[in-house]
Order: sequence, then C-alpha cells, then structure tokens
Amino acid sequence: MKDAAPQTIYLKDYTPFGFIVDGVELTFRLHPTKTRVFSKIAFRPNPAAIDNRFFLHGEQLKLINAKIDGAEITPRAVDGGIEVDVPDAPFTWEAEVEINPEANTALEGLYMSNGMYCTQCEAEGFRKITFYPDRPDVMATFTVRIEGNVENTPELLSNGNGDEYGTDQTVTPNSNYAVWIDPWPKPAYLFALVAGDLIAHEDTFKTMSGKDVRLSIFVRPGDEHKCAFGMEALKKSMKWDEDVYGREYDLDEFNIVAVDDFNMGAMENKGLNIFNSSCVLASPETATDGNFERIEAIIAHEYFHNWTGNRITCRDWFQLCLKEGLTVYRDAQFTADMRSEPVKRIDDVLALRGRQFPEDQGPLSHPVRPESFQEINNFYTATVYEKGAEVIGMLKTLVGDDAYAKALDLYFDRHDSQACTIEDWIKVFEDSTSRDLTQFKLWYSQSGTPEVTVREEFEGDIFTLHLSQSSAPTPGQDTKAPQVIPVAVGLLNDNGDEVLPTQVLELTETEKSFTFKGHATRPIPSVLRGFSAPVTLTQDIDNARRAFLLAHDTDPFNRWEAGRNLARDSLIGAIVDGTAHNEDYLSGLKALLRDDRLDPAYRALMLGQPSQSELAGILHKQGQIPDPAAIHAATESLRDAKAKAFADLLPDIYTANQVTGPFSPDAEPAGKRSLANAALSLLTRLDGGEAAEKQYKSADNMTLQLAAFGALLDAGKGDNAIAAFYDQWNDDRLVIDKWFSMQVMFAKPEDLAATVANLTQHADFDWKNPNRFRAVMGVMAAHHAGFHHTSGTSYQVLADWLLKLDPVNPQTTARMCSAFQTWKRYDDDRQALLKAQLERIAGQNGLSRDTTEMVTRILE
Ligand code: PHE
Ligand code: ZN
Repeated sequence: MKDAAPQTIYLKDYTPFGFIVDGVELTFRLHPTKTRVFSKIAFRPNPAAIDNRFFLHGEQLKLINAKIDGAEITPRAVDGGIEVDVPDAPFTWEAEVEINPEANTALEGLYMSNGMYCTQCEAEGFRKITFYPDRPDVMATFTVRIEGNVENTPELLSNGNGDEYGTDQTVTPNSNYAVWIDPWPKPAYLFALVAGDLIAHEDTFKTMSGKDVRLSIFVRPGDEHKCAFGMEALKKSMKWDEDVYGREYDLDEFNIVAVDDFNMGAMENKGLNIFNSSCVLASPETATDGNFERIEAIIAHEYFHNWTGNRITCRDWFQLCLKEGLTVYRDAQFTADMRSEPVKRIDDVLALRGRQFPEDQGPLSHPVRPESFQEINNFYTATVYEKGAEVIGMLKTLVGDDAYAKALDLYFDRHDSQACTIEDWIKVFEDSTSRDLTQFKLWYSQSGTPEVTVREEFEGDIFTLHLSQSSAPTPGQDTKAPQVIPVAVGLLNDNGDEVLPTQVLELTETEKSFTFKGHATRPIPSVLRGFSAPVTLTQDIDNARRAFLLAHDTDPFNRWEAGRNLARDSLIGAIVDGTAHNEDYLSGLKALLRDDRLDPAYRALMLGQPSQSELAGILHKQGQIPDPAAIHAATESLRDAKAKAFADLLPDIYTANQVTGPFSPDAEPAGKRSLANAALSLLTRLDGGEAAEKQYKSADNMTLQLAAFGALLDAGKGDNAIAAFYDQWNDDRLVIDKWFSMQVMFAKPEDLAATVANLTQHADFDWKNPNRFRAVMGVMAAHHAGFHHTSGTSYQVLADWLLKLDPVNPQTTARMCSAFQTWKRYDDDRQALLKAQLERIAGQNGLSRDTTEMVTRILE
C-alpha cells in the first residue's frame, strides 16, 4: 500500500461503490505504539454498481494478514490502498493491521492526546485505522470491541450503545474490554473510539416519546468542574430539536469527550461526540461570556448533526454543505431562540464578512458545493459552512416558514438512513412547494459575492426601487448568471413610522424594478433587512439618511447596519484623505447608547466598528491599495473620537451595567457585561487605565478579568498583569491559550513580530498542540497592521512556523495558509514580500498535499 498520490477529484466523476457492506466488526487491542485492529466485514456485490473493482482505502497501516471467506490472501498494493479479486457473491473480508497512535501527530485516525486514545475520522481518517471503503456513501452497522488496560484506560468508549464491559484477568493481567453496538448504519467518518482515564459528568434526558437517555461528558481528572454548562446546553439542544424539528434522539446513551489536541472545534461521531476541550469546558473563572455562548452553539451543532449529517449523510464530500450548511443554520436558529435574535444575526453577519467575504473575493473562492478538490480537508471553509447556512436561510425566506417546516419533514421522511446530494435536498423543496428552484440552485454552484445596487425613484405617489445585481469573476468562473436574491425591504415615513412592513422582493434578473403605490410623501426605504442575502449592497444614500435609519429603523439589523455604514465611511474618509470623523455618526450613536430600552448586548455591538482587514477589503473593492498603517491609525482615531465624544456618558454606562450576585452566563447578564466592557475599553483611553486596573484586581470571572487585561495591554500598561495572569493560571491550558493570544492581539504593530518570536521561546509554547499554535500564529495573522508591517518580518515568522508544523500536522498548517489569501490587495512591496514567503513554502521538499494545494491556489 502506498499513500495516495496528489490528484484532483471531480464531482462529475462520482460512481457508487461496487459492494454493499452488511456489517462491520472491529476489535482494537490498544497499545501506544502497536495497536492491533482486527476487522471482519460482510460485503456483497452492489446491484447498482458500474464497476466492481474491490478497492479498500488504507494509509499508514501495517498489514499483518488478510482473509476472504476464511482463506488467507495477499492483496495488491495500489495508490492509497489495496485491491483484491473477490467472488461475485456475498463474502467476508477479514484483516489484522497494526497502527502507531503515538506517532500520529496529524491528529487524524487513531492518536494519543495526554495519554488518552482518541480518533478523528472525518473526512478521510478511517483509512488510517483499517482497510475500508472510506467514503460517506458506504453505510454500515458497527460492532466494536476494545481491549485495554484497566490502569491506563479504565474508560473504553465507541459509538452506539455500550453492550458489555469487563475485566478478564485470566487472559492478560490488568486487561479490560468493552463492546459497543451501533444499530444505525453509518459511514466510516462517523466512527469513533476513546480510551483513557476519564471522569464522567452524568445526567439523563427523557425524550418526547418517554425514553430515558443517559448523558455523559467525559473529561480528564481535574476538569470535572467545567462540565455543568455543557451538559445544560446538551439538554436544551435535545429539547429544542424535538420542539422545533420534531427530531428525537435514537440511542440509549449520548457521550461527549473533551480532548486537548484536536484540529477543529468538535466532531459529531454517532453517539460519541469528540470536542476540542476549548469548545466544551467552561467555568465562570476560566471562560468568558463569549466562550459560553460558543460552547452552547457548538454542543447544539454537533448534537443537531445526529439527524442532519448522521441519520441523513452526504453521498460524497462535494455535498459537505448538505450537512454543514443545514446544521449551522439550525444551530443559529437555536442560539437566536436561546438568546437574542438580532444580536445573533449581527454576530453571524460580522463573521460572514470577516471570514467568508475575503475567501469569496480572493484566490480561494469556491462554490458552496465545490466541483473539484485535491484535499477535502481544505474545504471545511466559511463558504461551505457559513455561506451554506445563508443559502438555507434564503430558501426559507423565499418559501416561507410553513413550507420550510413541511419540506424538512419530507426530507427526514424520505431520506432517513441515506447518503444524499444537494439535488435530493432541492427536490424536497420543489416537491413540497411546487416551486421551480432551478435558478435558486445557482447559489450552490456559482462562487463569489453578488453585489446588489439600489436606485430610488419617486414620482406622483409611486415609489420605485430599481435593483440590479452583478458578480465579479472568480477562479474558474469568468461570467455569472443572475441569481435569485431575496431582498427584504420596509418603508418608513419622515417620522420614522413604518408605512410598509417588511416585504421580500425577489431579484431574479440582472435588473428589476419594484413599485410601491399610494405614498403621498417620499418614503424612506430600509433595504436588505435582516441581511436577507449574503451580498454586498451599494446604495447611493447620504449620511443624513443613514443617521435617520440609525435613529429610527424598525428592523434591528438594519438599524445597526446604518451605524456600521456611517462608521465605515467615516473611517474610509479618514484613511483616504484624512477627513475628520463624522459628527452625525458620533451624536447618533451617543443617543442610542443612552437609550436604556435597548438591549445592552445590542448597544455593545453598536459601539463596534469595522475591523482593519474588513476596511482593507472594502478599499480593495473600491479599486484602491489599502495602507495597513493608515487603516490602523484611522481605527485608533475613531476610537479616540468616541472616547472623547462619550466622555460624560461612559462612566454611567460602566456603572449601570455592573452585574451583581452569582455569575450567570445567560444572555441578559452577559449583555450587560459586554456593554460595560466596551465602555471600559473607551474609558481606558481617558483615564489611563485606572478603571481597568480596578476591574482587573476585583474580577471574579474571566469575562471581566480578560477585558481588563486587554484594556491594560492596549494602554501599554499590561506588564504587571502579564506576570500576574500567568502566575494565576499557569496550570490551566485553556486560560494560558488566552494569555498567549492577548499579548499577540494587543502588540503594537511594529512590535508584533518580536512579541511573537519571544512568545514562541516560552516553555509553554507547545506548538504541536493546535490550540496553542493558533493562539499565537492565528492571532498574529489576524493582527492586520502588525502582520502587514512594512518590514515583512511577520510574514517570515508565520512562514517559518508553517514550514515547521507542516510535516507534523498538515491539516492545521494548510488551514492557516489562508492568512496569505489577501496578498494581492496590497502594494507592490508587500506583494513581493508575501509572494516570496508563499513561494518558499511551495518550494519545500515533501510539503504535504494539504499545504501544497492551499499555497498553489493562493499563488495562482
Ligand atoms: N464535522 C465537524 C463539524 O462541523 C467539523 C470537523 C471536520 C471536525 C473535520 C473534524 C474534522 O461539526
Ligand atoms: Zn458541522
């Protein structure tokens, strides 16, 4: 068996596997360097097969022996696996292989993390465990026996229901074993195994039909006190999926395990979700409100995959958005229901603009459903996930809530236990609504962010909105057809009363006009309410109109957006020709901050302003070359202007939003803390850090401590806090990740590279741990002014570390290469520096397939 040679895989080439799997039996004899995996798999020819070659994937496996129907055979080693001649009738395949979990630093397949065995199989990790048709359209039931050692691995976990647990001292001293049966057919990417010395935080859930489900969160000793919140989130998710989607859990137990070394956030393995510990563990002292909210959302996300992903899975990896877009959409609905709908929507749009727009506007742009790839790990992107969720939101807006609910019922009914495509998904909506969705489907195949332009006209009593759309060329797609864009619009009068509640206009052509009759006076439109489509909006309106909408828009998203656009234009003016900041924006914002009827969390978001990289993207789109230093100076000056303009208000806001009593991570107190912390950050510009110092000293939760730490670092007064924070938290990995990140985030642009170089010398810079690596390198790449400092040193530092990590962990390396995706935005000097680093990476001998694909695409 050889590792697969790099090659491009195409959606159009899909063919079904030649065999059906009737059942899988696996036995794991665990050993840190020599784990034996015994497999016994029942195959039969697939009547739908086009080609009946018997090929099994396998990588980094040592084959001990293989049998067909009990007779030993010698498989042919081929690219990426093995081939065997098999009978044209049902047969049993057996194999014994040896693998080395301890040497597995890529964290894909079976690996070790702090003495604990764990697996990650999505997308193509199962082939590093044993020989198998490792593709999502091969679904089978699994029975798994795990043999371990009572001392090191008292806990032995796999998918499904625990069937047996025992110790059999007669055979091997100290040995233990467990048998797990998963009755639901699943693809291999949902397989999981965990073994280690773990402590369970337990609870139960009674499902809608009255079944009791045992729930456990397994953690390493010492982390027991960080499980309660995750457990509550799990129970809320289970209840919500019953109430809103009618989905009941389908096993007797549901297990979650926290793992310190993990490439991604979490993984939805059937009945055994595995989480990056940063995405499940939380206590008030160590986790911020932001962490709590994220944990609640990720627990929900993984749980919701049980139906959207596991019971109904993907036919092939091109269909990834089928499970991810839908599950992100579902978790967003959940968070909106648990917390504040407008706040969640604004947060999501910020994330979309921050991560998906740059991807879609640069060399990595790809459709929500890509049509080719070399390494599927490179397609777990903001486009597949977040734009994929936006597409579902648009579909729901277009067909309406009731039709959406009906279509989803049909989807679960029709496709349960199947591996599906986007065509299946669209068909369910067409069949249940009789609507032709051919044009809508372009959202899955056309890449790029459409631009919608609005022009207004008023004549007699008729108000007209002329909408048009266009979409710039993206890699492989020079021209685009018009898409179906739902544009939610409301009309206001001069007093700010709504004269027309939100309507959805369907922009289906390049240009289309919509008229509104019977308006004696000219109405004021509020366009793209709730961000009804993932587009950029060009609207020729002045600041007075924006200030009006900021004061009066009845749509909370667009009210926020009006302030955002004022801030953006004020910043662009300051960057491009040094204009002073817009007074209308500052006074409008001030009025809003005073308004106690408004949710504090919402007011805190109002205080925000576009990030430096977002501004760079906007300037680039306008045909200008962004200057990172000028952008940095302008964002700083706007913050200073806010601090000055709100000087009399900030202490009141700060005091009024202090929360007393025991800590609760609920939306309401969290919102107050976020407004108080936003005020503190501005106050620090006035009082030189006095209030921040006090808050740092008195803080009894991480939300307050970290905000004060940040304010002190920002003011250049963080030295004592850096030392104190480390002393206080050096035994808590997740908090030390924050300690690293904060110092990088608040470094002065000219000091960034040196700060990072210094931190990487620290004894705790355990760079093989993805969380720690990202805490430093990921945050450095996101520090716009420092990363793009004219010296080019940050580029070099990042490239050095990517080259170092690549042989150890290609997946995390490749993902972080996206830091370079915007390189063509910048001036010639920076472009040359960036290109040199990209070429240095590309030229490395033995560079992984993952990283090769990324740098090649970025350089193209
Ligand atoms: N499927 C996981 C999720 O979105 C993400 C993931 C992908 C995790 C690949 C690990 C590896 O929930
Ligand atoms: Zn997911």
